[in-house]
Amino acid sequence: MNSRLSGFRDESPTARRGLLAGQGGHDPDAFRALDPSAGLTVEQADHMIENVVGVFGVPLGVATNFTINDEDVLIPMATEEPSVVAAASNAARIARASGGFRTSSSRPVMQAQIQVVDVEDPEGARLRLLDARHELMQAADEQDPQLVELGGGVRDISVRVVESRAGRYVVLHLMVDVRDAMGANAVNSMAEALAVRVGEIARGRVLLRILTNKADTRLARASAVFDAEELGGPDVAADIVHAGALAEADPYRAATHNKGIMNGITAVVLATGNDTRAVESGAHSHAVGADGRYTALSHFETDTGGNLVGTLELPMPVGLVGGATKVHPAARAAVGLLGVATAQQLAEVITAAGLAQNLAALRALATEGIQRGHMSLHARNVAVSAGATSDELPHVVSRLVADRAVRADHADRVLAELRAGGR
Ligand code: MEV
Repeated sequence: MNSRLSGFRDESPTARRGLLAGQGGHDPDAFRALDPSAGLTVEQADHMIENVVGVFGVPLGVATNFTINDEDVLIPMATEEPSVVAAASNAARIARASGGFRTSSSRPVMQAQIQVVDVEDPEGARLRLLDARHELMQAADEQDPQLVELGGGVRDISVRVVESRAGRYVVLHLMVDVRDAMGANAVNSMAEALAVRVGEIARGRVLLRILTNKADTRLARASAVFDAEELGGPDVAADIVHAGALAEADPYRAATHNKGIMNGITAVVLATGNDTRAVESGAHSHAVGADGRYTALSHFETDTGGNLVGTLELPMPVGLVGGATKVHPAARAAVGLLGVATAQQLAEVITAAGLAQNLAALRALATEGIQRGHMSLHARNVAVSAGATSDELPHVVSRLVADRAVRADHADRVLAELRAGGR
């Protein structure tokens, strides 16, 4: 499979789906579910959430040019933001020239927390719970024999004493290898099942039993070398290092820098039917360092050859089994396009997409700024809203950009002129 699909962007959406199917040796109809007419039905949606009145469409594009761990990958991205898919593909093309992305990940270990209140001796309770480690782990595993059979299950427990303004709490953490699940259901069920016993041992009252979205035992990593010449020269590479350094040092910039990363990450998480909020909260909690300061999730430095090295590491709690990933026909098609076999592989592809998106944003910011690229895409939306047909679109878009007036009133004027034959 070759992720360099030349001419892909010039095709119609239907033809593009056909090309994808041909590329990966898929069934010709494999990606039909990505067409709204064959995607999620209202009846299916009605089984997913409450009070359903319809389904909400989001554009789904495919980022090209990605090579990850020496394999080409086509990445589905669901996003309403223009230029995200093009920017990721562009960064992937640059990375490709130096071997593409390398990725790795920790085991898919999620954690649940069990909060115990009204404990007389929190430190004593902590040691009693740790003494009962074996009993508690066994009881939790008994909740999910299927997970244990698949090679997952409880890996460890830890116990913390948390000081708060309302009291001291004993908080037990249950670490569970959830294999190919996102894992929320698995760890929440285990935490609920252990509650009574944990309360007895701690001699207190169990209150919350829920996973933590600070999934710092489930990390995914991506790195890539971006050739300085491909980036636009050594000065561009050096300026991207400055851009990354500002994000590391300044929370105001870090928030925007990380938003750029999440533009890539959330789009793939959504396309594959995963929980975007779980990944977002994991990412932002991970962006707070040991010193309590919010900082950049990624880092950029230059190597001895002056080329740019980008790295990204963050929690990536995504799954392939259960939830919308299995139920939503378009999510199933998106996972099929990726061809990933495990949740860890999916997590790594998503992280590579995040790093690509980040690099693309920093490169634009360190050179011409993002408005030029954004403006022509924005101009397309404005022209379409003004009623431009596909024949009229190129003329209207180039006029709006050239006149530096990407506005609805100007689009109306240009369109009227064009139709009056006054071009
Ligand atoms: C816009 O959606 C994302 C950027 O602001 C990211 C960044 O500033 O790094 C361009």
